Amino acid sequence: MPVQTDHLWMPFTANKQFKAAPRLFVSAQGMYYTTDDGRQVLDGTAGLWCVNAGHGRETIVKAIADTAATLDYAPMFQMGHPKAFEAASKLAEITPAGMDKVFFTNSGSEAVDSALKMVLTYHRARGEAQRTKFIGRERGYHGVGFGGISVGGIGGNRKHFSANLMPGVDHLPHTLNLEHAAFSRGEPEWGAHLADNLENILTLHDPSTIAAVIVEPLAGSTGVLIPPKGYLKRLRELCDKHGLLLIFDEVITGFGRLGTPFAAQYFGVTPDLMTVAKGLNNAAVPMGAVVCKNEIYDTVINSAPQAAIEFFHGYTYSAHPLAAASACAALDLYKEEKLFERAASLSQHFEDEIHRLKGAPHVKDIRNLGLVGGVELNSRDGAVGARAYEAFLHCYHHGVLVRYTGDILAFSPPLIVSEEQITQIFAAVGEALKTIA
Ligand SMILES: Cc1ncc(COP(=O)(O)O)c(C=O)c1O
Repeated sequence: MPVQTDHLWMPFTANKQFKAAPRLFVSAQGMYYTTDDGRQVLDGTAGLWCVNAGHGRETIVKAIADTAATLDYAPMFQMGHPKAFEAASKLAEITPAGMDKVFFTNSGSEAVDSALKMVLTYHRARGEAQRTKFIGRERGYHGVGFGGISVGGIGGNRKHFSANLMPGVDHLPHTLNLEHAAFSRGEPEWGAHLADNLENILTLHDPSTIAAVIVEPLAGSTGVLIPPKGYLKRLRELCDKHGLLLIFDEVITGFGRLGTPFAAQYFGVTPDLMTVAKGLNNAAVPMGAVVCKNEIYDTVINSAPQAAIEFFHGYTYSAHPLAAASACAALDLYKEEKLFERAASLSQHFEDEIHRLKGAPHVKDIRNLGLVGGVELNSRDGAVGARAYEAFLHCYHHGVLVRYTGDILAFSPPLIVSEEQITQIFAAVGEALKTIA
């Protein structure tokens, strides 16, 4: 029986195009999805950059099932349950030193909006309530809440809502430059100076009015932009110089994608807050979090009277028992199977294989770091995105799931991927590119 698709309004999807020829997954195990017509599809994207330990992991499934049977739900407003605290402690074990405080949300978008509010609350608590403005970056993706699209820099996500965005937001330039850094392997040598644009923006606004700078350490959803060498360190220095907080949106880069728990550790730059989601619990139940420096938590908590709620913010499902239990199980699994180290050890092979596509038809740029990569295609005249869509479709029909945004193909396999599977993913792309006009 074909699935009735009429009623569902699909997210970030060309609904008419999809419903004319639906693509459905009915199960998933390990590195593979199974389609409704019984085909196996190799997951080259960890779902949406989120199933870092691979699909259907037994300990996670069991944690969810057991918890559903024992504690389906518990409120977290003025109440609690043990798994919520355990999940926060396990997360704090792998965050950078001094960032031990965790606030749970249900998505990356909520984590971003929560982080922005946390920053404003912190500045107010320390007597700098005039720090209300935020600086994001062009092409940044910080989810789809009004806060997130305001600090985000993807035109398509903002244009219909532009009259209603948060006031007091400016943007750094993005860091992609194909003239100076095309086909870079790992961090581009060129571009650290782009961080200095922060000084120009601060001159326009008066630094004492800025609350925080928010960037993805490595921008994923916009099409894999790798930070130039030294860029993030420079940004950190400038934030320190002017008393601004630095937020890393680690929703994609967290949980081993670059071979370390977080990009912060990979780049040796510690932000003041991090937003996370996705791999936090292997995407088994919706969950996100803000992780902040202890000083931020202590300042906010200690500035309020004993019986007062210190932070007027939270969600019905913050630290939902199923989400918290799956986070505990996923974090244990990452540790037991040394999956972050595994990602680090596979990254050279990943780099070698993705760069084999240099010279393939339509390829304009290739970029990579850890287990994340992007292949940018030349756009067809008057049809931006058409080539990448056709390549995606070809790969899907030939058993490999890739992702595309505009004319950029993106790759982020689960960290359990084998070397052979990495080779298979890029070979499928190579074949696809030969077939499309
Ligand atoms: C960096 C970043 N921040 C925030 C989000 C939003 O997360 P969610 O889709 O869970 O709301 C994403 C999603 O891809 C992301 O990549």
